[in-house]
This record gives sequence, structure tokens and C-alpha cells, in this order.
Amino acid sequence: MVKNVVIVGGGTAGWMSATYLRAAFGDRVGITLVESARIPTIGVGEATFSTIRHFFGYLGLAESEWMPECNATYKLAIRFENWRRPGHHFYHPFERLQRANGFSLADWWLQIGGARRLDEECFITTALCEAQRSPRHLDGTLYGIGAGGGDLGAGTDPGRSTLTEQDTQFPYAYHFDAAMLARYLTRIGVEQGVRHVTDDVVGVGRDDRGWITHVTTREHGEVAGDLFIDCSGFRALLINKTLGEEFDSFADVLPNDRAVALRVPSDIDTVGIRPYTTATAMDAGWIWRIPLYGRDGLGYVYAGEYCSEEEAERTLRDFVGPAAAGLAANHVRIRVGRNRRSWVANCVAIGLSSGFVEPLESTGIFFIQNGIEQLVKHFPRYGPADRNDGDDGLRAAYNGQVGRCMDGVREFLTLHYRGASRADTPYWKAAKERGDAELAERMRVWAEMLPGEENIWPHYHGFEPYSWIAMLIGLGRVQPPPRPALALLDATEAGQKFAALQTQAKRLVGELPGHREYLARLH
Ligand code: FDA
Repeated sequence: MVKNVVIVGGGTAGWMSATYLRAAFGDRVGITLVESARIPTIGVGEATFSTIRHFFGYLGLAESEWMPECNATYKLAIRFENWRRPGHHFYHPFERLQRANGFSLADWWLQIGGARRLDEECFITTALCEAQRSPRHLDGTLYGIGAGGGDLGAGTDPGRSTLTEQDTQFPYAYHFDAAMLARYLTRIGVEQGVRHVTDDVVGVGRDDRGWITHVTTREHGEVAGDLFIDCSGFRALLINKTLGEEFDSFADVLPNDRAVALRVPSDIDTVGIRPYTTATAMDAGWIWRIPLYGRDGLGYVYAGEYCSEEEAERTLRDFVGPAAAGLAANHVRIRVGRNRRSWVANCVAIGLSSGFVEPLESTGIFFIQNGIEQLVKHFPRYGPADRNDGDDGLRAAYNGQVGRCMDGVREFLTLHYRGASRADTPYWKAAKERGDAELAERMRVWAEMLPGEENIWPHYHGFEPYSWIAMLIGLGRVQPPPRPALALLDATEAGQKFAALQTQAKRLVGELPGHREYLARLH
């Protein structure tokens, strides 16, 4: 059996992998994490996806314990600004659509709604975002939403992790300070017995088959293991530099290859805390605003082909206003795409070394979580000493799942640009041509009917039909007519559900505490 795992890299990917494996296998598998004190972590990656609760649940960490340590806040949705036209906004919430007479409320919105935006009429979360509400009451209980929900205790098993998102819809994710999270998980990991080596990996030892036997560090000698997890970020030290795995770029459909970020202090007593991430469309990309407890993370993600570094930084500083004065900007180059295989021989790449789309929809950490959960499910039998290649099936299954997940997100994000009404700059004009034949065909179908189970990306990638619907309609370039069947059905139930949803939204806005108020107590 594989007894010793060596993780190279101590960013979010490295420490999430170390702590998750420790929680899964206890001391039956030894874990060593080697991280360089010289090479910094990427320093961004602060908004998450709703499945992240499974990660903290699995580690047995309560919100009251970890959130204050990481200046964390709740994220109920992403607010998209100016993707259709200046001044327009809409939300993509973590909320499933209710159904009436076998059709989603979004279908019914096309038939009998439409007085207000889809996200206002079909989702409760929109009202909570606008009113900056907490998703929890002051006693800690979670608000109930129409289409499922439910709280999770600690100790979720890996079989009920990300993939069971399909059974339960959880109404929020988190924003957190990436550096504080890495420090917090370092402490948890070390307390639980992860061996932490602070050193540079300067060499990689391989046997005659090419399997990794050890990494060589500058000051701590050789660190041997059975399985190596490459969490070295965009450097991809093991998977690409050592093993030479092919990297397939997504630049043809997702051209944003740079970002510039600022950490901006925020006076939460006067401005409150938004319970959502904001994504504002700009001339050559978009700007994120991620509200943390006491500061906002802002960054302009853009395509170098259309915008220089200086112009991007100036745009971001203008966007932030006087609060940006004197703040240091972090410029980042983004490698967009994925390895053809994330698991090669006895090396599994997790995090940026494995693949990355771009920050839109916050899927980097989701990919990490999926990668580790799948690794536990497909954990190998053999290390290099066994001289046995019998894990080929496990590797192939792992690589298939991880690859299809990233490809699905690639397509979902391509829709964001292609489906946006905005077409006023060369960047936005070019976006209308991007995407492969499959997406073009799906968009042709969506011009006649809303996305549904039967016509979205067919493999698990985190986003359900409601997300595709919220984006397609919100972005505005394609708007299908109602399905013909609806004109032949009784609309009474749908009308009642629309009315009940508005009543519930109004009641919750009145009952739930403010986001800042709830977090002030928690912190
Ligand atoms: P990271 O680069 O952070 O860490 C690499 C580690 O490897 C470091 O500890 C380094 O020291 C170590 N290392 C490298 N070479 C070494 C060597 N030779 N020896 C020893 N150690 C070595 N995701 C998300 O979910 N939500 C979001 O909002 C965003 N936003 C975002 C914005 C932008 C601009 C980018 C580029 C990315 C995001 N992401 C994101 C992705 C997210 O940032 C990313 O998935 C996580 O931070 C994980 O990063 P890694 O740990 O993979 O690499």
C-alpha cells in the first residue's frame, strides 16, 4: 500500500490536500509537505464555490472556529455588473429554481413573468444580496430556501462530498483571506501530524520507469515517498517540468492571461459587508471585488493582447478611487488550460499545477477540492518500490473525471463572454466568435429553449442548469421564447409560487440580521 505521500507546495492547494488526506487516512498514511520560503504563493484566490463547506465539514472545523481566523465572510451569489450594458446588473446565486407543473420557474418566467429581472422574480437570494443580509439568524440557524438546503454537521464522509451537491443545494460559499487560510491550515495540519519541511525543492529523483522516488531539497536532503502531489502552482515542477506532461491551453476561448490585484481596507461599520462577489465588465476583461472582514480584494483580470500592465493597473486604481493610493499592486500571469492528464505515474497535480480557467465563477479552489476528493476515491495501490503498473484503471478514471470537470467549467465561462450583450470594444467583439462547435450548437438550442439537464455540458462540473439559465438570461444576448407547452398548461401553480417567493423574500429580509451584524458577533 501507499504509505508515504509527499506534497510539494504550501499554497491553498498544498495545505488543503495535506489536511484533507490527514482527515481521511489519519496516521495510516504519512504526509510530508515541502514548501519554499523563497517562492511566494500566488496571493489571490479568495472567493469560493458552495461545495467548499464539505471541505471544512470534513475537517470538523466549525464556522465559528475558522472564519474569524481567516477574515471570512459569506458569499450568496456573484453580482455581474455591466456585462449587458453600463448600469445593468444581475445575480448568479447559489439557489436552485423551484418548479411548477413539471417546468422550472425560469420557464414560467418567460411565459407569465418578466415584469422584473429573472433573478429578482425567480430567486430569493437576490433580495438578500440587495439588503446585505446574513444567510444565518443570530442564533446560528440557517435560513431555509424553497428548493432544498439543510445544514451540515462536521465529519462528512468523502463519498458525500462535492458530487452530492447534486442532491443538496447549499445557499452559500465563503470569501476568505488566502494568506490567512494557508497559515490556519498549516497550523491544523502540523497539529495533526503533517511533517512540514520549509525548503526549496532543487531536484527530483526518478527510477528507470520514470516514477518519482524522491525530491531533493536544498537543506534537508532527499525526501522520499510513494505518491507525490504537485502543488507547486503555475510552476508545475513535477507534472510538467519533470514528467513532461502535455498542457492543453484554453487561450483560444478564454484569452484572459493576466491580472492585477489590490488589497483595499474597508470600513465595514459605514459601508457594511456585501454578501456576494462582484464581477464588473471592463474594456478588456473584468474586475472582481471580494469583500472580506475589514478589507476588499479587488483585481482586474484582462487579456494582455488587448491591454498593457500599466493600463490595467491604472484602470484598477481608477475603479477603486482614492482608497487605492499608496497600495502595492500584485501583477499575476495566468496559465489558462489544463494538463492532458493530472495524474501521471506516481504524481498527481492539484491546484494551479493541474489546471486553471480564470477567476470568473471562483472555481480554482473548487478544482482543488474536487482533485483531492477524487484522489481519495481513486487512491493508488502501488508506489515506485512495488514495480507494478496495476493502477492504470484508477489513473484513467481519475484523469477522466478531473479533465471533464475543468472542460465543463471552460465551456460555462466561454458562455459568459459569448453570451454577454456587451460588444463595444475589440475584446468584447472578438468574444462573440469564441467557443467550439459543441457550444455553438448548444447556444443554437438555447435560442429556442432555456438550458436544462438534457442540453448542458453532460458531465459533473459543479454548475447545474439553474446556473446556465441565470447566466444566459442575465447576460442578455440570447433570450429564448417560452416553451410552447407552457401555453397549453395551467399556470395557476406557477403564479402562486412566484407570489410566495416574493413574500418569503420580503419576510427573510425583515427577519435575517445584516451580514456585517452577524459577522461582527462571529468574529
Ligand atoms: P500557489 O502558487 O499559491 O502555491 C505554490 C506553492 O508551491 C508555494 O508554496 C511555493 O512556495 C511552492 N513551490 C513552488 N516551487 C517550489 C519549489 N521549487 N520548492 C518548494 N516549494 C515550491 N480560485 C478561487 O477559487 N477563487 C478565486 O477567487 C480565485 N481567484 C484567482 C485570481 C487569480 C488572478 C488567479 C491567478 C487565481 C485565482 N484563483 C481563484 C485560483 C487560486 O488562487 C488557486 O487555485 C489557489 O490559490 C491554489 O494555488 P496553488 O496552491 O496551486 O499555488
